[in-house]
Amino acid sequence: MTGTQTWKTLDDMDLAGKRVLVRVDINVPVEDGKVTDTTRIERITATVDDIQEAGGKVILMAHFGRPKGQVVPEMSLEHIAPAVADVLGLPVTFVDSDYVDAVAEMDDDEVLLLENLRFNPGEEKNDEGFAKRLASLADIYVNDAFSAAHRAHASTEAIARLLPSCAGRLMAEELGALEKALGTPERPLVAVVGGAKVSTKLDLLGNLVGKCDYLVIGGGMANTFLAAQGMDVGKSLCEHDLADTARDILEKAKAAGCEIVLPRDVVVAREFKAGAANEVVAPDACPADAMILDAGPDTVTYISEVFAGAKTLVWNGPLGAFEIEPFDRATNAAAGVAAALTDAGNLISVAGGGDTVAALNQAGVADNFSYISTAGGAFLEWMEGKELPGVAALSA
Ligand code: 3PG
Repeated sequence: MTGTQTWKTLDDMDLAGKRVLVRVDINVPVEDGKVTDTTRIERITATVDDIQEAGGKVILMAHFGRPKGQVVPEMSLEHIAPAVADVLGLPVTFVDSDYVDAVAEMDDDEVLLLENLRFNPGEEKNDEGFAKRLASLADIYVNDAFSAAHRAHASTEAIARLLPSCAGRLMAEELGALEKALGTPERPLVAVVGGAKVSTKLDLLGNLVGKCDYLVIGGGMANTFLAAQGMDVGKSLCEHDLADTARDILEKAKAAGCEIVLPRDVVVAREFKAGAANEVVAPDACPADAMILDAGPDTVTYISEVFAGAKTLVWNGPLGAFEIEPFDRATNAAAGVAAALTDAGNLISVAGGGDTVAALNQAGVADNFSYISTAGGAFLEWMEGKELPGVAALSA
């Protein structure tokens, strides 16, 4: 353990000859039975390798999808096991029941993968009995699933109280990067928050205005802020009922010395489809029959200036309807600027959240960011300033 960190890492554990139960998040995208993105699997390799190198035996446990306590054959981790074996470069044995025998018979270099934890109703209930059954399989518990740490489940919370526990390499890396970005950041600190709705990110905005020097608001959420300032946003996605909330956030930001950056110009179109005819207008000049689908070039120029003066950037959510061209321009351009500043050593850039990582991948700059979190919901809850039960349990 170091500094104020209250959880242990693999380095604090004696792993030799031990059975090590590792909670991982391999909830990966699958299309037509094939894993389409192995990032989450790649990111657990350090933990698996280090445990085996230290003489421990690795038993992996994970969830997949949301089967709600039922056995749903399509959500069996049996389908993911070949991809795990492939990425780890190790023999992976999938076990659907009879865990005790499988653990007793496993070879040192073999990795066991247990069936989808969420097939058991005890998992999501954080059931002590289910946690005990899991704990009985091992000597040590390792949580390497930061992206599932916002769930107080048997495999993320209850079990940590039953076995000697520590954070895996990925968990430690995620927590370290996030602490550097928002806990004790080098300033100025800029946050970019985009996405469709203010209503899903209220806590996050509330927390960020008290922490950041600049808060860039993009995507559909920005429309709610523009409308709250009396601008007509036409047919744009907008939560008019949240006008008061948006004004409160603007006030709170002002009091805290946080500059809120809203679109200075916007790209509008009459159809929500790729290649739709569009034009750039002032934010208060959206025609009544059009909708705002992206931030305009002047906005990108200003955001680039803000980034250039910053030392730390935390990014969650696209600036426009990035999934359809050409409304991905502001997101791509701003992401490119952040990537270049990071490459030059002038900016620490951290991004997370499903859409965000997809947008940065699409912009071709994900590899240039200082840190890309594997987490979606957990990243958001962390940005909201909430304690994550899976992390808290490791510190107890
Ligand atoms: C994720 O994909 O964000 C994690 O695996 C958590 O999944 P959940 O939202 O179903 O708990």
